[in-house]
Amino acid sequence: MKVMCVFGTRPEGIKMAPVIKVLKNRPEIECVTCITAQHREMLDQVLDLFDIIPDYDLNIFEPGQTLTDITTKAIKGLEDIIIKEKPDVLLVQGDTTTVFAGALAAFYQKVRIGHVEAGLRSGNLYSPYPEEANRKLTGVLTDYHFAPTERNRQNLLNEGYSDEKIFITGNTVIDALQYTVKEDYIFENDLLNNIDFNNRKVILLTSHRRENLGAPMENIFLAIRDIIEKHRIAEVVFPMHLNPKVREIAYRILGQNPRIHLIEPLDYEPFTNLMARCHIVVTDSGGLQEEAPTLGKPVLVVREETERPEGVEAGTARLVGTKHDSIFENLDLLLSDEKEYEKMAKAINPYGDGKASERIVDILLKEVKKD
Ligand code: UD1
Ligand code: UDP
Repeated sequence: MKVMCVFGTRPEGIKMAPVIKVLKNRPEIECVTCITAQHREMLDQVLDLFDIIPDYDLNIFEPGQTLTDITTKAIKGLEDIIIKEKPDVLLVQGDTTTVFAGALAAFYQKVRIGHVEAGLRSGNLYSPYPEEANRKLTGVLTDYHFAPTERNRQNLLNEGYSDEKIFITGNTVIDALQYTVKEDYIFENDLLNNIDFNNRKVILLTSHRRENLGAPMENIFLAIRDIIEKHRIAEVVFPMHLNPKVREIAYRILGQNPRIHLIEPLDYEPFTNLMARCHIVVTDSGGLQEEAPTLGKPVLVVREETERPEGVEAGTARLVGTKHDSIFENLDLLLSDEKEYEKMAKAINPYGDGKASERIVDILLKEVKKD
């Protein structure tokens, strides 16, 4: 069986890497990897860590491309490779524009499609944008839906997909996390080694969503700046996304405070070890909403909706929106009330047990033979 894995951004790389590892270890499978490189540096960091040398690199990255640029370049580049390789099945992961383009290119060649991390829904087509649409569009084209949780399966059933083609596997991000987090980890970055994680309350911040660019992101950063002024014990580490629109707002609002560290994106290994040592996570990221509960870190989700309500229901995540006062008040509570903090700081694992990749590959072997 020939499986072609297509991915393009940092989070897809992180979550596809454990699947590729399993695929490459199975003698009955030939695994071909193709990156669109919708991201460049941020994806290359992941490839290095997981020792993935892609068979094909479309290298479509250009700073500031539009969604149409990314979509059209990816479909065109993938067409030739799919025709040449003739895979039995093409795997995509998640909800980026590369995912939708990969699924569409495979569909045009009548190649079967497996969607890893299928069935997540926020219920609002414009939030996250364009990811909610990418997920739904990809679902329509998919033959094998690998749903991380029961809720994700239900979402697909509600949209009329056949139960026979939906498989609950857990999320492969948990497989990846198990590979990187270590108790005795030492950072290469001296700034991080010099932070006194035991006596300071370190807030790990990330923000990059398109629908937050502009006023919502300004509100998030203003709330962070104000909370740092109020709580002398708190420090912020913000590994900034490479999007220049994010960085401009970050430097303008957060650039002046010695207890706010604006740093370059971290490799996955130091990043997850930083998360394991921090006190609170504030984020609009999808992946962090899965990783923080797993590591027992309270996570304030600075978005209006989430397609990952499992962490909220378990009490580890709180959806606080993008208004200044709500973010400030929730942070204030967690920094001043030990009981409130302890209520949220519990390790839960609704997203998987670290064996999702093995399951996905086992199911693929069985299902592709059947079809
Ligand atoms: C993309 C995905 C989003 C995912 C996110 C993960 C789409 C439309 N968006 O968003 O779903 O959550 O990745 O991070 O698929 N840049 C660089 N170097 C890099 C990466 C990005 O310089 O390695 C800069 C470029 O200026 C680029 C900008 O960031 O134009 C935005 O990148 P893009 O891939 O368009 O969207 P993201 O916001 O990263
Ligand atoms: N991440 C990383 N380095 C960083 C910031 C994030 O390796 O500096 C990882 C993080 O652990 C998670 C993934 O990148 O697995 C999330 O990526 P991002 O927030 O860009 O995308 P999303 O998950 O929102 O699609």
